[in-house]
Amino acid sequence: MHCRTAKEISMNISHSLATGSPAPRDNSPQFDVSAIRSQFPILERRIHGYPLAYLDNAATSQKPGAVIDAIQRFYLQHNANVHRGVYQLSEEATRDYEASRDKVRQFINARERAEIIFVRGTTEAINLVAHSFAKPFLSPGDEILISTLEHHSNIVPWQIICQQTGARLRVIPISDAGEIDAAAFDALLSPTCRLLSLTHVSNTLGTINPIQQMIRQAHQHGIPVLIDGAQAVPHLKVDVQALDADFYAFSGHKVYGPTGIGVLYGKRERLETMQPYQGGGDMISEVTFEHTEYNELPYRFEAGTPNIAGAIGLGCALDYIQAIGLAQIAHHEQALLAYATRALSTIEGLRLIGTASDKAGILSFVMDAAHAHDISTVLDQAGVAIRAGHHCTMPLMARLGVAATARASLALYNNRADIDALVAGLHEVKRMFK
Ligand code: ALA
Repeated sequence: MHCRTAKEISMNISHSLATGSPAPRDNSPQFDVSAIRSQFPILERRIHGYPLAYLDNAATSQKPGAVIDAIQRFYLQHNANVHRGVYQLSEEATRDYEASRDKVRQFINARERAEIIFVRGTTEAINLVAHSFAKPFLSPGDEILISTLEHHSNIVPWQIICQQTGARLRVIPISDAGEIDAAAFDALLSPTCRLLSLTHVSNTLGTINPIQQMIRQAHQHGIPVLIDGAQAVPHLKVDVQALDADFYAFSGHKVYGPTGIGVLYGKRERLETMQPYQGGGDMISEVTFEHTEYNELPYRFEAGTPNIAGAIGLGCALDYIQAIGLAQIAHHEQALLAYATRALSTIEGLRLIGTASDKAGILSFVMDAAHAHDISTVLDQAGVAIRAGHHCTMPLMARLGVAATARASLALYNNRADIDALVAGLHEVKRMFK
């Protein structure tokens, strides 16, 4: 599907740059955050009478009009099932669905489109690898290695597999700043370690793990690596070939696409060793009551009618961010992270949790004055949306010695006004709970 609006938007941005319209103070010269904000209809909303300052992007990002239009256009003009119908609508739906696979391939620089599997999201991708890849080769005494930074989605599937196989879960420790303990990691790469499953960026602390180096080390010991890229893909350029990851997973809804769609990248040689995760339509080439021949990659892992509109929306979202440029997005978010870190550091009684030297735009914090849930409730009254709680990382919370944090997480459309609203709200928290 032609993602016209994204292209038009990109041209509009270029035009406003070419015309030399004055850049707002929190813009880099190539990045017009005001123009970008205008492409996200929900940012026009007022919440409790205040402009929305949406700072819960690690939970889910807002969607540009281009993505909303692409989904609507699919249902208005092209809706039919894929890979099944010999009629025009089905051919259009198949063409657009498969075009999105090509966009994903190009976006993460996979070698071939057969290595791109559409799934529901990162969680399903990790479960798929746990069941279809890891489980068949695990025996009692084998080890699965994860880190203290992991989200529950990269803990619980491995616990289930360990229960089923007798394998053991090992955990790489972290420093108080929230960084991987490199020496401990090295020591854990033992002959019994059979798989490393690691987050690229911590959803709770923002830590960017040195995954290229860690993948190299794991491979030196013959250990395959799965990377949970849910929090990385919206912020960093990801090249799966340069990383040499065996598997890389991410979700559509965190990268400005719809919910219910995500991607599992797997190296062909890994995917070819794996049995299907689910059985059903489309993942077969021939079925009798006695036997089934499975379909080729990637369809072998896409049982049933897929999320066609979701995949098309995701393809459009990837077009959208590429039109802006991941380098520009990273530059903008890093500048805003520095601004926000400085601003929060001036608030007495507030402690930032997670101070890694390499961080994405995530600010977790606690306040002497109030519990995280109270902070979030007060901020909401001023139109500021953040997340409060354990962020689906209860073991990490235990390691850090906190029950909950408040978390502000940034996206490409956030600006200094959002941070100023957050800071003003936090002063109000202090006043209310004094
Ligand atoms: N994993 C998402 C978050 O960090 C839901 O909020």
